Amino acid sequence: MSEKKEPLVIQETPGEKHYCTCKNTSTPPYCDGSHPGTGCEPHKMTIETEQEVKICTCGFSANTPFCDGSHYNC
Ligand code: FES
Repeated sequence: MSEKKEPLVIQETPGEKHYCTCKNTSTPPYCDGSHPGTGCEPHKMTIETEQEVKICTCGFSANTPFCDGSHYNC
């Protein structure tokens, strides 16, 4: 039986964000510096206004780091 993936829904605050892409972080969805040697780099972006965001956890979104609904096909 496979585990169904769902996006991580958070109320994001304004500022520069470094979202984890290697899945080794201990502080999801943010980078904690665990990526060296994985071939991954954090997804860096600036959030302008406080807003609810849905962070992809399945790895299939075409709009990373955000969920695009692709997890329904997992
Ligand atoms: S969790 Fe929704 S597309 Fe990955």
